[in-house]
Amino acid sequence: LTRQNQSVEVRAACKNDAEAVARLAGELGYPSTVAQIRERLDLIDGEPQHATFVAVAGGGAVVGWIQLSRMCSLVSDPRAEITGLIVDSMHRGDGVGRLLVERGEAWAREQRLATMGVRSNVVREGAHRFYLRLGYAITKSQNVFCKDL
Ligand SMILES: CC(C)(COP(=O)(O)OP(=O)(O)OC[C@H]1O[C@@H](n2cnc3c(N)ncnc32)[C@H](O)[C@@H]1OP(=O)(O)O)[C@@H](O)C(=O)NCCC(=O)NCCS
Repeated sequence: LTRQNQSVEVRAACKNDAEAVARLAGELGYPSTVAQIRERLDLIDGEPQHATFVAVAGGGAVVGWIQLSRMCSLVSDPRAEITGLIVDSMHRGDGVGRLLVERGEAWAREQRLATMGVRSNVVREGAHRFYLRLGYAITKSQNVFCKDL
């Protein structure tokens, strides 16, 4: 998948991308060490219900990534969810985010999933405009509860 004018290519993430993925995870607000990212990539490596793609610029630098998962529930048909998406702040507005989401949607179709969902923090207003532009609609707002175990 290539956007000609930007020569940005989207491909499956591999272990060698861990450093760039970690740097961008920090930018997303989830500071992670390279070792942590490597471990987490390992956990889902080869698992068909998860996918991670990176966007690579002409010079070979990773300028964004997207993670997707297949979500199963008793109350709805299996669906796909974007569990992480980030484009390098220096490369935003160039269509990289769109390329990543389109690749994610293609993956979901390959998995025979009919719906893509994404949960986005209420403070990410730019991301909300981005998703609306890409045809997503806000269907629900919810609180997220957590407890340390
Ligand atoms: C959200 C994000 C991934 C978008 O990536 P991007 O590469 O800048 O987006 P694109 O250039 O592909 O934009 C695609 C379309 O959305 C629009 N868009 C993107 N960001 C926008 C914004 N902040 N406000 C309004 N429109 C926006 C673009 O104008 C473009 O529209 P067009 O096709 O009509 O030109 C990126 O801004 C980002 O990484 N943000 C910080 C992290 C984040 O919020 N991630 C999402 C977590 S849920």
